[in-house]
Amino acid sequence: MPADPRLIVPLDLPSRAEAEVMVETIGDAVAFYKIGLQLLAGGGMDLAKRLKARGFNIFLDWKLHDIGATVEKSAAAIVESGACDFLTVHAEPQVLRAAVKGRGGNLQSKILGVTVMTSLNDHDLAEMGYALDVEALVARRIGQVIDAGADGVIASPHEAALARRLGGPDFLVVTPGIRPAGASLDDQARAATPASSLASGASHLVCGRPITAARDPRAAALAIVAEMAG
Ligand code: C5P
Repeated sequence: MPADPRLIVPLDLPSRAEAEVMVETIGDAVAFYKIGLQLLAGGGMDLAKRLKARGFNIFLDWKLHDIGATVEKSAAAIVESGACDFLTVHAEPQVLRAAVKGRGGNLQSKILGVTVMTSLNDHDLAEMGYALDVEALVARRIGQVIDAGADGVIASPHEAALARRLGGPDFLVVTPGIRPAGASLDDQARAATPASSLASGASHLVCGRPITAARDPRAAALAIVAEMAG
């Protein structure tokens, strides 16, 4: 397989059928897929099990956020599906601790904290009642992810170096907002190239539309794999 296991492609497509066609189109150029809320609402867990059975790694982007008891039971149910390599939860201490407890001994399923959504800026945080700015809240939450015993964070490429420094060598640092040099940014305000993101400390890259909206998604994925190699 020419795939780089550090490249994750989000299947942000309206239906499971379209997601399955995309996986076939990309073929062996990608080994890791992210399934988000849109597909989870329509057969996403079944799709995850099918892809897992075929040897793909699966990132289930549930972004859980609820009272501890509910997060714990939900994380346990998701992990017990056997189709979860990465699971996201919002990076609040109660939520993180509950997810780690629910995951139990299924250590192949990694719990990742979403620190601060990249759609939020300092003004939004103030409006929501937070006293910290984005940078300070991200740093605080990375610390809370580590303290809770979770495995890593979702971080913008610009926060990857901080996450790597605080989390150490084995910490997972998963960066969305990846754009090949010269590509359209779409709605990603703080994008970075595959090589610069890896150099900043990312362990995994999430890259969607540059691949899934390309005329030839397989060729686009292979080009990004080549950029990652260097
Ligand atoms: O198509 P694109 O490469 O922009 O897709 C990025 C993926 O990463 C989407 O699934 C998006 O929801 C997700 N994501 C993001 N920024 C975050 C967290 C998740 O773009 N901060």
